[in-house]
Amino acid sequence: MADPFAPNDVWLVGAGPGDPELLTRKAERLLREASVVFYDALVGPEVLTLAQPGTRLVHVGKRSGRHSKDQRTIDRMIVDAALAGERVVRLKGGDPCIFGRATEELDACRAAGIAVRICPGVTAASAAAATLGLSLTLRGLARKLTFVTAHARGSEKLDLNWSALADGEGTLVVYMGKAAASEVSSQLIAAGLSRDTPVALVESASLPEERVFLTRLDLLGLASRTTMGHGPTLLLIGKALKSCDSRIITFGQKQVFRRERGNETLPA
Ligand SMILES: C[S@@+](CC[C@H](N)C(=O)[O-])C[C@H]1O[C@@H](n2cnc3c(N)ncnc32)[C@H](O)[C@@H]1O
Repeated sequence: MADPFAPNDVWLVGAGPGDPELLTRKAERLLREASVVFYDALVGPEVLTLAQPGTRLVHVGKRSGRHSKDQRTIDRMIVDAALAGERVVRLKGGDPCIFGRATEELDACRAAGIAVRICPGVTAASAAAATLGLSLTLRGLARKLTFVTAHARGSEKLDLNWSALADGEGTLVVYMGKAAASEVSSQLIAAGLSRDTPVALVESASLPEERVFLTRLDLLGLASRTTMGHGPTLLLIGKALKSCDSRIITFGQKQVFRRERGNETLPA
């Protein structure tokens, strides 16, 4: 078998966006073989049930503003477990190497002489595109796909290159952007992106509580404050989102309105 999982090894494993069926077969095997799993807040609960009974499951989750463990503590826990002879899975939501603090953990393992490898996962942007039933790239209209995080440290302002992001020919996917949605909207408009650029907000993509809301760039802040719940949310911005028109939009798998030619109407 490729990539045997030996004692003292660490795997950074992508748990995908939440739906356990979106896990890779390799991730499933590594979960079965692990003796300890350190998992994040955004790992879907059903994914954890794939570990064997007796596997130690350790929550080291961080959600914005509520850090339960700092990164150095997590690094140390992973290293200590590996040095103690455990088969360690570090399970992270989505893909471990997309806004996942993977580098810190890879560096900590390597500095301690521990073999560490990566098992990729389905990132939230891919799950959101699947939910929306569209492609994030579009021949001739969206030739570029940009992933950006709008998470600012503490009270710091967002330090992003807005003129580079305000590209009418690309699709912009904003991770951790719900709280900063108003600023994202006003900065992109100030940098030249059209106010009526289509936008989708997708919360808890791939999970039963998934929510979707379609709007336009100048209404993004309002939409984020009034339509979303407390789950992880992506903002998707650009012409590629136009093809959502006429689709049935769901709130927790319940149809609540249909958008046609820019008009939102409640279902009959
Ligand atoms: C720390 S980042 C981790 C991203 C993750 N590594 C990935 O590849 O999807 C967390 C952010 O990802 C987004 N996210 C993660 N899971 C999501 C989901 N199921 N639906 C929508 N957004 C999600 C949200 O923007 C959330 O704030």
